[in-house]
Order: sequence, then structure tokens, then C-alpha cells
Amino acid sequence: MLKNCVHASPKNQHNENYVEDVVCKTDEIGENEMKSLDLGEGKILLIKQNGKLSAIGAKCTHYGAPLSTGALGNGRVRCPWHGACFNITTGDIEDFPVMKNLRYRKLG
Ligand code: FES
Repeated sequence: MLKNCVHASPKNQHNENYVEDVVCKTDEIGENEMKSLDLGEGKILLIKQNGKLSAIGAKCTHYGAPLSTGALGNGRVRCPWHGACFNITTGDIEDFPVMKNLRYRKLG
């Protein structure tokens, strides 16, 4: 492992889709900052909060919004499009999307 570099990889290292690589230097991300970075064939969202680094998928699982443009709260990131919240340590969804601005029209 290289010193002062962030190595990103999934927690389950026995996964056949396991990918690990150096994505940036530790001093290239500030406190409460989020960065979308390339990893393998996809992107990750690297987050630094309370001095700890974590990485989750860069796109919202709802309609694929870029989470790097969302709002970082205490331990969670809120999707900029419909407000779903994801835990920044596990990537688990904690609040589901809200589609309150959609207007429904009867067809026919
Ligand atoms: S795209 Fe993220 S909540 Fe809809």
C-alpha cells in the first residue's frame, strides 16, 4: 500500500467484481468534501468526514443522479434530484426518494 494514497475497494474482497486501485492522495480531499473518482469501469464517491475516508457508488440508485452534487450531512449524503439519503459508510439507503413535484395527468 502506498503511503498517503487512498486505496478504494469494496468491503467484501471475495467478490469476483473486486476492484482495488489508488484513486487520489489523502491530502487531495478536504474535510466534508466529496469527490467523484474513476475506479475500474465505474465511479466512486469518495467522502472525508470526521477525518475518516469512505467510498460509496457515485450514482444514486433511483435514477442515477450524481451524488457528488448532493448535500453531505452527518454520516449521509442526500441525492440532489429526489432527496434519497445514503449512509456514507455502508452505502445503504436511509431515506427513500420523494417525488412530490410530479404532476399526474389522466390519459385518454
Ligand atoms: S435520482 Fe436520486 S432520489 Fe431520484
